[in-house]
Amino acid sequence: MKNRGAGRTLSRAVFLVPAGIAMLAGVDAALLLLGLGAPVSAPRLGDLHGMLMVVGFLGTLIAMERAVALRHPLGYAAPLLLGLGGLTLLTPAPLALGQLLLVDGAVAFVAVYAALWRRNHDDVVIVELLGAVHLAIATVLWLRVDVPWLMPWLVGFVVLTICAERVELARLAMPSTGGRTLVLHAGGLTTALVATLLWPQAGARLAGLVIASLVLWLVRHDVARRTIRSSGLPRFSAAALLCGYAWLLLAALAWLAGGAQTKGSAYDLVVHSVMLGFAISMVMAHAPVILPAVLRRPLPYRAVMWVPLGLMHAGLLLRVGAGDLAGSHTIWQAGSVVNVVALLLFVVVAIGAAVAGPPRRRPARTDPGQRDPASKASGIPLTPTTRRPS
Ligand code: HEM
Repeated sequence: MKNRGAGRTLSRAVFLVPAGIAMLAGVDAALLLLGLGAPVSAPRLGDLHGMLMVVGFLGTLIAMERAVALRHPLGYAAPLLLGLGGLTLLTPAPLALGQLLLVDGAVAFVAVYAALWRRNHDDVVIVELLGAVHLAIATVLWLRVDVPWLMPWLVGFVVLTICAERVELARLAMPSTGGRTLVLHAGGLTTALVATLLWPQAGARLAGLVIASLVLWLVRHDVARRTIRSSGLPRFSAAALLCGYAWLLLAALAWLAGGAQTKGSAYDLVVHSVMLGFAISMVMAHAPVILPAVLRRPLPYRAVMWVPLGLMHAGLLLRVGAGDLAGSHTIWQAGSVVNVVALLLFVVVAIGAAVAGPPRRRPARTDPGQRDPASKASGIPLTPTTRRPS
């Protein structure tokens, strides 16, 4: 029985290996884009940074989590194809081969959500499904246009997926109309993204307005505003969540005020406020809850997790504030390097925490009828309704 559990952990971990490789290659590509020395330099690597990070890394990670929730072998086609697509981009094979694998993976991902929807007609799943459709559209557009022109769809994927997951995880603390509000915003954002194809400026401004409204609604109802005053994991998660919301609001306001961005400092500000400040911060916030559901191995909270979280946001402040806004190229590079260190450090800390296991504690008397204390304080139930890890 124990061997079966260990075998399942191992086979699931194998699915995450391509995501890890995509992330490392994406970091290497980032160093090339920064004009700094990178351990590996290949002709087209720099151009692949964005898709490796968003689709190869984040997409595979999220698809894997959903495949585990679906509990059907076919569900694993999505992380498999997305992971293989990311890996193929790194080989000398024609670029189109990797791109097509990513399209297939994204379509399989949509199918996973459709199956989850059939099992449970939940508003949150509809929004996640729409997020996966945005990803599929982005991968199809990539066959024809460069990344800056499909960026709104990548943003749509990240924003809808993560905001829906947040509503799902903190459902107990959300108002009963939460699902409907989320669906309305998802519909508004999708309309705005379709508009960007015809009228890029007006579409981006509308997308900014919808995202700003979504963030403000989430912040208003998120228990993170209360749990920030607690301690341990709930406080860590709350800090990561609130910082993530702040970065997403900044990106939304930049779109609202400035319209579509396709290059320069404003582009860097929007892209990394969403992808690093919001998405990676949310990954850090939820990793101790979600990774154990995927890998069946606890990822206990450790105080040292504050170091990569703090570095990530401090680096981004430098990069955006002194780099993108004030125009200092050297500080922009320095802040970006701090971001690289933070991302890699979080991976090291998470692996270390999972291997070391829970910190030793004196046995405390607990009321068996109570939920897990960390879960209770953070408003994150450890086994939410549609998340059914086996
Ligand atoms: C870890 C630190 C990171 C650094 C130092 C970094 C650096 C860069 C740089 C220098 C650019 C080019 C900016 C420009 O053309 O104006 C870029 C673009 C981009 N980055 Fe990052 N990045 C990092 C992390 C991430 C992450 C985690 C994601 C996604 C999850 C991401 C997604 C993107 C995307 C989508 C683009 C646009 C690519 C394109 O236009 O071709 N980045 N990044």
